[in-house]
Amino acid sequence: MQDIRSYIEANKDQMLDDLLDFLRIPSVSADPEHKEDVRKAAEWVKTKMDAAGIDNVEIVETAGHPIVYGEKIVDSSRPTILVYGHYDVQPADPLELWDSPPFEPVIKDEKIFARGSCDDKGQMYMHLLAYNYMVQNGGLPCNVKFMFEGEEEVGSDNLGIFVEKFKEKLSCDMVLISDTSIIANDTPSITTGLRGLSYVEVEVTGPNRDLHSGVYGGAVGNPINVLCEMIASLKDENKHVTIPGFYDDVEIISERERAEMNSAPFSMDEYISDLNIQVTEGEKGYTQLEQTSIRPTIDVNGIWGGYTGKGAKTVLPGKAFAKISMRLVPNQDSDKITELFTKHFKSIAPPSVTVKVTAHHGGQPAVTPTDTPEFKAASMAMETSFGKKPIPQRGGGSIPIVALFEEVLDVKTILLGFGLDSDDIHSPNEHYGLFNYYKGIETIPYFHKYYSELKSEL
Ligand code: BES
Ligand code: MN
Ligand code: MN
Repeated sequence: MQDIRSYIEANKDQMLDDLLDFLRIPSVSADPEHKEDVRKAAEWVKTKMDAAGIDNVEIVETAGHPIVYGEKIVDSSRPTILVYGHYDVQPADPLELWDSPPFEPVIKDEKIFARGSCDDKGQMYMHLLAYNYMVQNGGLPCNVKFMFEGEEEVGSDNLGIFVEKFKEKLSCDMVLISDTSIIANDTPSITTGLRGLSYVEVEVTGPNRDLHSGVYGGAVGNPINVLCEMIASLKDENKHVTIPGFYDDVEIISERERAEMNSAPFSMDEYISDLNIQVTEGEKGYTQLEQTSIRPTIDVNGIWGGYTGKGAKTVLPGKAFAKISMRLVPNQDSDKITELFTKHFKSIAPPSVTVKVTAHHGGQPAVTPTDTPEFKAASMAMETSFGKKPIPQRGGGSIPIVALFEEVLDVKTILLGFGLDSDDIHSPNEHYGLFNYYKGIETIPYFHKYYSELKSEL
């Protein structure tokens, strides 16, 4: 039997080449032009799962992009881990800001640069490589089910339907996901919470057509001006969200927990210098760490209207648009917040315009308890591979399906991610460290081992 480190050492070139192949497939789920590429990525995953000897591997058709499912049941009396990941990626634009093409991966400074390298192809593939190690070295300590989807970046709507429909097939003791970050390569951490999401698009309509901004300007309400004023009023001078009822259900975190949370290593100097800003700007009374984890917020993701071409065109536009997201925390409800937003946004519109609000996909927040065998196993696994006990930390991003796993399958999720917040996921030059990739592959078999041992002791 080979230990995991020497196994990785012996196979690392192949492990990397495989991932680079995977990253060459532009599986952008949001773009209909890439529909076939998304399918290609699903087929690539299926081929790897078949080669690994996983049973019943299938590409499950949905109304959108397919789901790849497979399982290995070694002994029905042992616990079952459901591994989830996503093989779809965010759009790569703006392309001109990439130093190398997003779907032609390159290794630079010990990092893999490509769209999806960290989020989530690199991280999901670690699980199949760790699986190969386990079957070749003593066998699986417990049962494993794999479910990889192609719609995470567009809201996982069809996965939600699949999970509801195949509850029995997906029955398990816990869900394992690598799609989050650690604090630093020398500071491992386990994500114990995810924020929820409420996402809306607003359309503000003024006059029935674009107008000459000299002939009409000054007398007719300009939808872009109005939209900007409305957006500006959504936060007060303390950066508190002004939507009535917005904070009603926000979980109050004890002073003790907050103090513990803030004892995690964090350098404000590094944070601001990395972003090239002078100061941060967030809700008064909370630290940066709290602002991005236990507090909800609202952000404009995009705003457009009027003339944005070259040079100057004098126009008073008839319409203005914005895409607005709200990050939610326990126990806020995504649908309720969308309703509160809609009602409030319409109420603050001046009579010179009309407002339409359309809801996009959302998701509920999630928390992972730290007093469970699965959390203990995750902590022990990272401690073994990193040589340091990981710090529990809530994350600021969202993985909406996690709350659904809990609701429908009645199981908790372990977020055993290996990325870094600075990996530029969703941005140009997304990357994933080689250290992180191999460390993930190293950690996962320990997780399976410790989890199985702890469960059998119960
Ligand atoms: N992997 C991310 C979420 C994430 C990243 C959580 C880093 C914690 C740390 C996931 O792929 C993602 O991008 N989720 C979306 C939500 C989805 C509905 C589009 C998000 O958070 O914006
Ligand atoms: Mn992801
Ligand atoms: Mn993502």
